[in-house]
Amino acid sequence: MKLWLFFLASLGTLAVTSALRVGPVRLPHNNRFINYTKGASPDNSLLECVHQLDEEEQVATVSWMLWDAGNIVGSFDWHTADPAAATGKLEGVVALDRDDGSLELLDLRHDLSGEYSCAVTLTNGKSIEAGKWEVLVVESISQLSALHRSLSGCTYSSNFSTLATFPKPTVRAGLYSESLGGFYKEIPEAQWLVQKYDNGSYTYSYSNVAFELNADTPVDVSFYVTVGVMKNDSNYIPISSAMDKHIILHQLGCPEPRVEAYQHVEYHRDTITCRGEHKEAEAIVTCKEGFKADGDVEEVLIRCDEITLMWVLENGTPAKREHLQCVIDGASSTASVSTALLCVALVFQKFLLP
Ligand SMILES: *[C@@H]1O[C@H](CO)[C@@H](O)[C@H](O)[C@H]1NC(C)=O
Ligand SMILES: *[C@@H]1O[C@H](CO)[C@@H](O)[C@H](O)[C@H]1NC(C)=O
Ligand SMILES: *[C@@H]1O[C@H](CO)[C@@H](O)[C@H](O)[C@H]1NC(C)=O
Ligand SMILES: *[C@@H]1O[C@H](CO)[C@@H](O)[C@H](O)[C@H]1NC(C)=O
Repeated sequence: MKLWLFFLASLGTLAVTSALRVGPVRLPHNNRFINYTKGASPDNSLLECVHQLDEEEQVATVSWMLWDAGNIVGSFDWHTADPAAATGKLEGVVALDRDDGSLELLDLRHDLSGEYSCAVTLTNGKSIEAGKWEVLVVESISQLSALHRSLSGCTYSSNFSTLATFPKPTVRAGLYSESLGGFYKEIPEAQWLVQKYDNGSYTYSYSNVAFELNADTPVDVSFYVTVGVMKNDSNYIPISSAMDKHIILHQLGCPEPRVEAYQHVEYHRDTITCRGEHKEAEAIVTCKEGFKADGDVEEVLIRCDEITLMWVLENGTPAKREHLQCVIDGASSTASVSTALLCVALVFQKFLLP
C-alpha cells in the first residue's frame, strides 16, 4: 500500500511541479518569543516548520538547524521512517517522540535563543528550506510596580528598575505625549545603570531623575517607561511598560487673556501653573492710562472657568474683547479706538480640554 502510494506520488511529481511550500518558522499562537517564565511546553516552546504539500506528496524528513553567527551549533532531524536525533546545543533538550516534525524544546536555556531554520524533504526527494528566523527565549516578569514617582511643584522625579531580563533589553523612559508623537524628553542613556549577571541577564535602572514641567509641556503629557527586546532584524518586542498618565491634568489653567492694546488687566486672585497659565484666577479689565471707557461700561470682571478653561464674565458667558470699548482720553466718542485701530478678531481664543 505504501509503495503503491509512493509510486503514485512520483508519477504526480513527474506530471506537475510539486506543490511543496516551506516556511516560515513559527511559534504557537504566532507568539513573537518564547516566555522563559512560562517554562517549556508545547504551548510556549514549540517551533513549527510551516509547510504545504499536495495530497499525494509525503514528508520524509524535517531538518532543523540552530545558527550562531553563521555557524550551525545544533541540529534536529526528524524522519517518518527512522527515529529522530538531535545534536549540538539541541542534544537532550528536544522532544524526539513527536509525530509531526515540529521542534519542541523541553528545557529553556538562554543559549537556545538564536536563529532557527528548517527544511522539509519529501519521499520523492524534493526538498525546500525555510529562511532563518531568530527565536528569543525572553526572561522577565511584569515590572509595573517598579516605577516610583513624585511631583513636587513643577518637578517630576522618578526611580525605576527592571527585573533581571534576558536578552539585553531596550529601555526608554521619559515624558511622553501623543500630540507630540511619543517620547519628547527622555532619560539619557548615560543615566541608566546597567548591571549584567553571570547568567547573561541584565537589569537597567535609574534613580532620582527629574524633569521640569513648563510652558512647553504639552497638555497631554504622561511619564512612560517601556522595556522590550530588539531582534536583530530590528523587530522590537515589548515586554512591559508603565505609564503615569496625564500628570499635568490637575494643573491646567486659562492661557494669558487676549486683550486690546488699550486694555489693562489686573488680577485679584491668581495661581500660575507649571505651564504659565492662570488657575483659580479672577481679574478686572479696565482702559489703560491715556484711554477712557467709551460708554457706560468702565470695567469688566473676568474669571477663569476651571472646566472649560476659558475666560468668562460673572454670568458665565465667554468674555470678549469688545465688552470693553475705550477711546483716547480727551478725544470725542465718535473716534472710537476699537474701530479706528483694530479690526482684529474679537473673540477670545477658545482653550478647551482635549
Ligand atoms: C542574529 O542574532 C543571532 C543570535 O540571536 C545571531 O546568532 C546571528 O548571528 C544574528 N544575525 C545577524 C544577521 O546579526
Ligand atoms: C528615589 O530613590 C531615592 C533614593 O535612592 C529617594 O531618595 C527618592 O525619594 C526616590 N524618589 C522617588 C520618586 O521615589
Ligand atoms: C539570572 O540571575 C539573576 C540575578 O541573580 C536572577 O534574578 C535571574 O533569575 C537569573 N536568571 C536565570 C535564567 O537563571
Ligand atoms: C511571561 O509569562 C508570565 C507568566 O504567565 C507573565 O507574567 C509575563 O508577563 C510573561 N512575559 C512576557 C514578556 O510576556
